[in-house]
Amino acid sequence: MTETSVRRPIVILDFGGQYAHLIARRVRGLGAYSDIRDPSVSVKELKDAAGIILSGGPQSVYDKASPVVDPKIFSLGVPVLGICYGLQCMTKTLGGTVTPGEVKEYGQTEIGAVNGGGILLKDIGERCAVWMSHRDEASKLPEGFQLTATSDSCTNAAFEDPRRKFFAVQFHPEVTHTEHGTEILKRFIELCPATPWSVAGYAKRIGDEISDQVKDRRVFMLVSGGVDSTVAFVLLNEVLGAHRVQGLLVDTGLMRKNEVKEIRSAFDRLGVTNVRIEDASQEFFHALQGITDPEEKRRVIGDTFLSVQKRVSEELGLTASDGWMLGQGTIYPDTIETKGTKHADHIKTHHNRVPAIQQMLKKGLLVEPLKELYKDEVRALGEELGLPHELVWRHPFPGPGLGVRILCATKPDTLQVDDVGIKRWGGTWAVLPVKSVGVQGDGRTYRHALALFGKDSCDLTEQLWRLSSEIPNRRREFNRVLLCTSSAEAKPFVFSPGAITKERADLLREADAIVMEEMRRSDLYERIWQFPVVLLPFGATPGAQSIVLRPVESQEAMTARAAVLPADVLHQMTERIMALPGIDFVFYDLTSKPPATIEWE
Ligand code: XMP
Repeated sequence: MTETSVRRPIVILDFGGQYAHLIARRVRGLGAYSDIRDPSVSVKELKDAAGIILSGGPQSVYDKASPVVDPKIFSLGVPVLGICYGLQCMTKTLGGTVTPGEVKEYGQTEIGAVNGGGILLKDIGERCAVWMSHRDEASKLPEGFQLTATSDSCTNAAFEDPRRKFFAVQFHPEVTHTEHGTEILKRFIELCPATPWSVAGYAKRIGDEISDQVKDRRVFMLVSGGVDSTVAFVLLNEVLGAHRVQGLLVDTGLMRKNEVKEIRSAFDRLGVTNVRIEDASQEFFHALQGITDPEEKRRVIGDTFLSVQKRVSEELGLTASDGWMLGQGTIYPDTIETKGTKHADHIKTHHNRVPAIQQMLKKGLLVEPLKELYKDEVRALGEELGLPHELVWRHPFPGPGLGVRILCATKPDTLQVDDVGIKRWGGTWAVLPVKSVGVQGDGRTYRHALALFGKDSCDLTEQLWRLSSEIPNRRREFNRVLLCTSSAEAKPFVFSPGAITKERADLLREADAIVMEEMRRSDLYERIWQFPVVLLPFGATPGAQSIVLRPVESQEAMTARAAVLPADVLHQMTERIMALPGIDFVFYDLTSKPPATIEWE
């Protein structure tokens, strides 16, 4: 990437689900600049595209509301690759035929090359394992295309028009389960004159852009101690000089144990002195009194952040009219969600994009130096800037902090179920008296969790993993499946009404500290993406509560899988948490995202 020339991305048109981000990251990993856009984007806006990829998506081209593309994108003279739904959309647009397939394929399958696999699939050979998930398929290829791969249940598994450089694959080359997926994407990228991309040197390149944008103003920025805001802050300090940047760390009372102290000493070690620490915990607890609804909590926390920030900035004389801008550690996936490619999920409001911030964005008062980067790229940049390893590899921690991990309700939300159809499960089960947020298709769900109680309660068996996907699939009233790790027998749940209080935050802080300590001790901390620990308002005795352990493996948090913890680690965590006063149950969340989300709220 040069500083002066226009950037030419490979543009991914986002047809929904989580595919677009996966493709965009893979393209960047292969050294080409990528950008995600909504399929309704005008051809004019695509004038700098070096190539176009039509992503997969959950729809059928037969659905009335299914997204389409402007046929003119095929006249831009750049290579186009259609994947899954993208293949079908491309086929239909270019005059081929798509019909509902007889067999619904889902998961791993085998394809074989035809006509030598053409340009894109030339190395795949007779048998190549790929990941496919579709029902419809192309039954007649558009003019100019030739078949390049076939499978038992999908005759036209891949085809291409080498003259116009149009390619279509029914399988997903971007998922790691697809053999030769990387080579396939690489071949496509090689045909596109895209701007080269690498995080190395990003600091220098973006530095020039920041200087241009900020001019002679100064930047005020909220820092949380998380990797995004810290990297953004340090970068701004380097580019503008510390005298032109002021940081503010708000202690919300919803942070982890010793967190403020640790962040302060991390900044000390980095020689960063321009961060003011403001203890606003009383203000937050006060504002949250009686608030139980998850989105309402987020709004109250977001607004309280803004009012603290306003107060402090006025105290320090740092307002827009005094020539100040606001810095944020927003990263690429956050901007995409808000740019709102229509088919991207909107499950939770991001605190970096509340209406007041959107206004500032419109007025050009925001500086977001990381807005083009994915989390793994931010980490690479953090390393390049010389930030300490532990800081760069910290798990992501949500802006609203423990606030979204303390479940609140005024009364139990019970669900009467007689049978959940899991006879094979040797133990018992119970429905929790609270709901949590999940994601299904493109929408948000708010449903109950089913807890399983068994014999050897810390052993995460194959059967448990099967049940964790089967139950929410078959029974739509559940979006999570848990294993009780503290008790082999279900006991009646006793509900305690509660909102967010300092006492509950302190209790959760202790449980969270135990979990983090055990993860570091067993060397598992960096092997997982994130480990929310959640407090639930019920136990087996009056006034008691429960804890949920939610370790996940993920890339960029768009989809996730519950992480597998060794039985001894899980056992140790459970024992230590059960020794805390007022905790009656510990559960382990076995659910993937989807159908659950990473956080419970
Ligand atoms: P979910 O729960 O939607 O979370 O699967 C995906 C990722 O986003 C984080 N998260 C948030 N981060 N403000 C944030 O800064 C929020 O309101 C928020 N909600 C969820 C979550 O921790 C996970 O990494």
